[in-house]
Amino acid sequence: SKKGFIFDLDGVIVDTAKYHYLAWQKIAEKLGIEFTPHHNEKLKGVSRVRSLEIIMELGKITATEQEKQLWLTQKNDDYLSYLTDIDSSEILPGVMPILSHLETLKQPIALGSASKNARPILEKTGIIDLFDAIVDGNDVSQAKPDPEVFLVAARKLNLAPEDCIVFEDSEAGIQAANIAGMVSVGIGDAKVLHEAAFNFPDFTHMDTAFIDGLLKKVKA
Ligand code: BG6
Ligand code: MG
Repeated sequence: SKKGFIFDLDGVIVDTAKYHYLAWQKIAEKLGIEFTPHHNEKLKGVSRVRSLEIIMELGKITATEQEKQLWLTQKNDDYLSYLTDIDSSEILPGVMPILSHLETLKQPIALGSASKNARPILEKTGIIDLFDAIVDGNDVSQAKPDPEVFLVAARKLNLAPEDCIVFEDSEAGIQAANIAGMVSVGIGDAKVLHEAAFNFPDFTHMDTAFIDGLLKKVKA
């Protein structure tokens, strides 16, 4: 049977979560707001605008629309500066074998990312052609944990949500997958991603038998 395998991008396929963090840290520092890796977990998976709001809530500050636009632009310009020279080496360990296995099995693969920078990243890393559907921050209006991005991906693959599996490194993304009625697979710290149906510290710990098992599962 066909299942839809929906991958988040940042922190799942590519090691770009660290660049988002570095860029937000600079903005927070400028605003005099303490921003640690712990705080950063709340920003993972959520949109750029929502990320800034969370940082401002952390520092209990308000700003004009103009200031906010400036900070969003600065953050993105800085983030993009880390991406100028990226290539396939940015793909996280263990990801390619899983993508290749899915390809061999002819299982549909989709991207479900909050990022507006997703397409150039997939192009630069040379994997854009592996995806049967791409849904990114330009296609949706609701940030994760809203399930919109994954529901649109399922629709593009012509599959029911319950036939989709989502790979996510963020709390918000796992929640979005669960709300969508999909199988959630956490990639990262199991304590942070405790709401996931399955958890792996990274893709090197996931073998192809796990994928085969998901395909065999019959509906209850
Ligand atoms: C998500 C990241 O994938 O995309 C977030 O986890 C990021 O950290 C969000 O803020 C939006 O990305 P972008 O590239 O549109 O600013
Ligand atoms: Mg992510």
